[in-house]
Amino acid sequence: MLPEQFDGTVDLGIIGGTGLYKLDCLKPIAVLPPMVTPWGTTSSPVTISRFQPGDGDGEGNGNGNAALFYVAFISRHGSHHEYPPTRVPFRANVAALKHLQCKALLSFSAVGSLREEIQPRDFVLPQQIIDRTKGIRESSYFNDVGLVGHVGFGNPFSRAFAEYVHQFKDVLHNYDDESKVRTLHFDAERTVICMEGPQFSTRAESKMYRMLGGDVINMSVLPEAKLARECELPYQMICMSTDYDAWMDHEEPVTVEQVMGHLSNNARNANALATRIINKMAVELPEFMATGDGLKGSIKMSISTKPE
Ligand code: ADE
Repeated sequence: MLPEQFDGTVDLGIIGGTGLYKLDCLKPIAVLPPMVTPWGTTSSPVTISRFQPGDGDGEGNGNGNAALFYVAFISRHGSHHEYPPTRVPFRANVAALKHLQCKALLSFSAVGSLREEIQPRDFVLPQQIIDRTKGIRESSYFNDVGLVGHVGFGNPFSRAFAEYVHQFKDVLHNYDDESKVRTLHFDAERTVICMEGPQFSTRAESKMYRMLGGDVINMSVLPEAKLARECELPYQMICMSTDYDAWMDHEEPVTVEQVMGHLSNNARNANALATRIINKMAVELPEFMATGDGLKGSIKMSISTKPE
């Protein structure tokens, strides 16, 4: 049974990555079982949380009569990390959030750093992607439907959304050593390399990615970003650095142990950031929520199949 007042639609969709199987700042009012879509079943149950504009505590007890703000959350790799990057049901996850009518999609991912200044536990708001997946992931809703869609993807992220997130850069902390400052990098147009995995890169590959202009590397921004674009959803990934990948000659290449060592600090920062983003969005629904950052209605111009 869905709670009263919830009409089945949400404002914001959030996808959590490795180490972020739930967000503590979300207090679900409903947990929908994994949602079945024409593109498969979501990788986790979908939690629905409610925020009252002006609600500082995130408990839904805010002031005023302003409209309530709803957030849907999916754990990309499953609630117990059971889906490797290649097998994540990306199309089902994004379709489910679109079905719930979210207006924008915020995503979190653990990443390796390809730049010295992006230290483990720093966060990055990339604006570009280089595809190094192997073409084996289903990456479009237009496959096998008798339509050809060539969707514009020159700017794969929403700059307006990234700017919105960046205003909260000061919430990041290094919880076990407060003398260290953690940075939310948005200084340059940062590029995320998306590799297939599940193995990490060789040193040679890692160095090549630096030459290509990569700043961070993960295994999951694609096809998520492409599918969000096909759904006309403004999309921004918050990349959470856990390691220096394999390019540093004097350091051991990345191991799972290294990645794990930074996950809990990153999860605390992800929560702090999400809390601020949601509480502010709930008060001042930004322009891009209403217009889809200019994406609303754009896809009909991307279909190149002529009607009979
Ligand atoms: N996720 C976290 N660290 C990574 C790395 N070094 N390469 C690919 N994906 C990652």
